[in-house]
Amino acid sequence: MKGVVLAGGLGTRLHPITKITNKHLLPIYKKPMIYYSIEMLVEAGVNDIMIVTGGNSAGDFLRLIGNGKEFGLSHINYTYQDGEGGIADALSLAEDFVEGQKMVVVLGDNILEKGIRSGVEAFQRQEKGARIFLTEVEHPWEYGIATMENDRIVKVLEKPKEPVGNLAVIGVYMYPPDVFEYIKGLSPSARGELEITDVNNRYIDRGEMEHQILNGWWMDAGENAEALLMANIMVARSQGVEL
Ligand code: DAU
Repeated sequence: MKGVVLAGGLGTRLHPITKITNKHLLPIYKKPMIYYSIEMLVEAGVNDIMIVTGGNSAGDFLRLIGNGKEFGLSHINYTYQDGEGGIADALSLAEDFVEGQKMVVVLGDNILEKGIRSGVEAFQRQEKGARIFLTEVEHPWEYGIATMENDRIVKVLEKPKEPVGNLAVIGVYMYPPDVFEYIKGLSPSARGELEITDVNNRYIDRGEMEHQILNGWWMDAGENAEALLMANIMVARSQGVEL
């Protein structure tokens, strides 16, 4: 199983904090944000990891993470996304690295309380298709939201303006290697990005998308300044700090 951490994008929603550095290098309590994604993959048994970065300060990732030894890895891989073409565009850069294997893709700004081990194990056993995690949210208009029927996902809508439910698709996606064929068939959305939600809807339309409800809290720490602050608080509290 391969792991891909997506840490590109320009982080414009966090300007001026991200004007001269990459969002995923900002601190969350005692560590840079990207540490949590890498540690979560390693904890789930995924040891062959590629980081896709881009925009500002790409060289700082190398200085920070080096050869991955600090995480117990024997090596780590990097690539660079030109521009900000979307999550699916960033993932497409990992095609050669993945070498026809299954993969776990993690958005580098997502922080989970309890990790993804059970999901990764279930995906290892899964015969075909993709797998995602869902969790209830208070602001569904900020996320990809799943519409359910008989405990199956029938559609994911990206940041819906009208209410369609409150089950968000979190930023951890498990795909078989055919995901790269699906990405090649995508067209840019209205915001000019190749959307991961469009990829997920292809699997859903073919009846090849499994899901599970996430255990523990989840945060999209890169959403805005409030989310960044809250992620710091949640992580510190989870480590016994009284705030
Ligand atoms: O956090 C979960 C949400 O993430 C999902 O519910 C949404 O369906 C999904 O589209 C995504 O929404 P965001 O608007 O939060 O995505 P954002 O543009 O913030 O990008 C998330 C991460 O993906 C970011 O930490 C870096 C990476 N990324 C993003 C873009 C646009 C890249 O590596 N390259 C990119 O071009």
